[in-house]
Amino acid sequence: MKKIITYGTFDLLHYGHIQLLKRAKALGDYLIVGLSSDEFNKLKGKKSVLSYQERVDLLSAIKYIDEIIPENNWEQKSRDVINNNVSIFVMGDDWKGQFDDLSEYCDVLYLERTPEISSSSIKQNILNKEKLIKM
Ligand code: CTP
Repeated sequence: MKKIITYGTFDLLHYGHIQLLKRAKALGDYLIVGLSSDEFNKLKGKKSVLSYQERVDLLSAIKYIDEIIPENNWEQKSRDVINNNVSIFVMGDDWKGQFDDLSEYCDVLYLERTPEISSSSIKQNILNKEKLIKM
């Protein structure tokens, strides 16, 4: 069985996330998501609207995802890849080059991000009271 792994916060789950997860799953048979814990987000200077458990509940409903594990630090990735016998590590290309060290253990792929949507822009649009619906 070919296992894929990807990591992220996946706050305010959106179309760009779904596209990433769909393309990641299509690369193999079993998709693991390392979901950033609230504590790890704090460390990264990030605060999600949805809690870790709320984000787990949302991601659990997505058919492309087979397993969710917590992401608690930067260092765990190589251990996760080895322990789970992962074949491909996948991230969006905003992370291009940043995890190339993992190629020692598996293939490393950066997929093109879906343009014009992000958790940050959704939050910003709400703050700016801009229309969220395209006219
Ligand atoms: N992603 C993507 N296309 C988007 C947004 C995100 O492919 N438009 C990918 C990211 O590259 C990453 C994964 O989805 O591999 C999770 O990204 P995350 O940082 O949680 O989502 P963002 O919407 O980018 O959140 P933020 O604005 O807080 O950075």
